[in-house]
Amino acid sequence: MPTVFIETYGCQMNVSDSELMLGKLAAEGYAAVDSPEAADVVLLNTCAIREHAETRVIGRLGELRRFLKKDAVLGVTGCMAQRLGPRLLETDSRVSLVIGPDGYRALPALIEGARKGERMIATEFDLEEHYEDVAASRFDGVKAWIPVQRGCDYRCTYCIVPYTRGNERSRQLEDVVRETGSVVAQGLTEVVLLGQTVNSYHDGARDFADLLRAVGAVPGLRRLRFTSPHPNDFSDGVIAAMAEVKAVCEHVHLPMQSGSSRTLKRMLRRYTREEYLDCVARLRAAIPGLGLTTDIIVGFPGETDEDFAETLSAVREVGFDDAFMFKFSAREGTPATRLPAEMTVPDDVMDARFNELLATVRGISRDRNFRRVGERCEVLVEKEARKGELLQARSRDFKTVLMPGDKSMIGQYFHVELTGTTGSTFTGQVVRERAPLPMSG
Ligand code: SAH
Ligand code: SF4
Ligand code: F3S
Repeated sequence: MPTVFIETYGCQMNVSDSELMLGKLAAEGYAAVDSPEAADVVLLNTCAIREHAETRVIGRLGELRRFLKKDAVLGVTGCMAQRLGPRLLETDSRVSLVIGPDGYRALPALIEGARKGERMIATEFDLEEHYEDVAASRFDGVKAWIPVQRGCDYRCTYCIVPYTRGNERSRQLEDVVRETGSVVAQGLTEVVLLGQTVNSYHDGARDFADLLRAVGAVPGLRRLRFTSPHPNDFSDGVIAAMAEVKAVCEHVHLPMQSGSSRTLKRMLRRYTREEYLDCVARLRAAIPGLGLTTDIIVGFPGETDEDFAETLSAVREVGFDDAFMFKFSAREGTPATRLPAEMTVPDDVMDARFNELLATVRGISRDRNFRRVGERCEVLVEKEARKGELLQARSRDFKTVLMPGDKSMIGQYFHVELTGTTGSTFTGQVVRERAPLPMSG
């Protein structure tokens, strides 16, 4: 039996694509192995979002050379493969396979070609491709990532994704519902719907509100999440569906990027500071106890001290539970690289802003979390925690809770009391077990 090892970088969409690739190869008789030394085929499923994401992969390729079996096929897939295409083959003589996100259907044939000594490349976009007939080999036994949309039709000026994943397209609602039914039948009770702007989902006849209602009605599904939504696509209809569908969790990851309307305009985010804050207010009014997390970029070209101060004030005004923060990274070919060079934010200014933002976000989330100690909530046990003899569980509003228990509790729901917090994660004690409820509507 040929063996394959896949290492995944980047976002959940890439994790989900790796599950599809593994599914495709399993159907062809491949066995997955968990180290590159043992594999006949080694794939790095890569990310191109920031320069650092790519330098990590280049470094890893150099390192892997030493571990690979002599005749192993080494391939690069995903966003960096799409972005660099033939340039990857030129820079690394050991790489014999380069496949973009729409090319995984041909994976077995491409591997065959590479085995024969050819260097294979597949970076055509395919707007019809949803891998409908490929059964994913899922890594996670508790929650399922389900892509509902591929590509992106926004053109945020800093972002490489539209170039690495092409235009937006949505799966048919019935296909998403069918996949949800099949993962629930396998014992998974949480589903995360994936798309770059997932709430702009539209299959020609049904929108994201319809999708939430249809997926939320699948018997046995207990938790429904989605990532990442765009503020402009939170119509009243979508928010109403979120509030109405019991399985939809009280958490939204709502990328803000900046709190300055001037910067947002240059980013082509298509909303102002006020519109973002209004979106937050509408979500909070409809969904009590909503957890809110976000993405923020510091040092976008032309960002002044005043612009940055507006980001800090928006962070305080919203009171995010957590945020992913990034230093702006210029991506070749994106519109932001055509802004005048004098607009570039110097590294030392970027670093200082980043550190200030980090301290502000951490301080706010710490305060919010300390106020929660003593509360009770439902958690789903996800896995064994990295440290100690604890389990890692998650609340509906996306808090991480570490609790005592054994492996048999993984995948089950409990009511816990939040007994303490480090400021970011909580500790919890089981108050009572909650029997699985048949959940619908
Ligand atoms: N589709 C998602 C985001 C995908 S990328 C959305 O629109 O919300 C994840 C995050 O990476 C973005 O939200 C942004 O904060 C960050 N990011 C994207 N391009 C970047 C760049 N060139 N430099 C720094 N951060 C970037
Ligand atoms: Fe990138 Fe903007 Fe599309 Fe998100 S919405 S993937 S940030 S272009
Ligand atoms: Fe990275 Fe591609 Fe996701 S660039 S963030 S892996 S869509």
